[in-house]
Amino acid sequence: MGKKAREIVELNVDELIEDLNRALADEWIAVFYYTHAANIAKGMNSPIIADALKKTADEEREHAQELTDRIIQLGGTPIGKFEDLAKKANCPSVDLPKDAGDLNGIAKAIVEAERCAIDVYNKLLKKIMPGKDTVTTQVIRHIISEEIEHEDLFETLLGL
Ligand SMILES: [Fe+2]
Ligand SMILES: [Fe+2]
Repeated sequence: MGKKAREIVELNVDELIEDLNRALADEWIAVFYYTHAANIAKGMNSPIIADALKKTADEEREHAQELTDRIIQLGGTPIGKFEDLAKKANCPSVDLPKDAGDLNGIAKAIVEAERCAIDVYNKLLKKIMPGKDTVTTQVIRHIISEEIEHEDLFETLLGL
């Protein structure tokens, strides 16, 4: 933990770490469901959907890395237990269709999950802006811009 790095944050740092951990739980849950959905789509011989899901899952894993880095910089402990993920998450599940072959239903579920993520990061940005924590702001702005791309990608695949 950097003492100065923590000092310059004009927020309750423990509360900020908790918010970042909740977002981290969301990212891990997205990695799991998106990878699972990619495997199903691959099995269904739908390479376009499978590739989009795989690429998106990879980006969610990068978000998990970025949040983990920031939590550690602030002196926090990143969430690391499987059973805590659903408890902490803002968006605890991705509502995949019962029929595994329903590719439209899969895309719809991803769009909903991305919208939840956009809301979470937007609220967090409002809390930390303007200037209360420039480093976290930079991290979250980067992440939210990718969540917006994900929503757009799956809306396009759905033909919405
Ligand atoms: Fe993400
Ligand atoms: Fe996303």
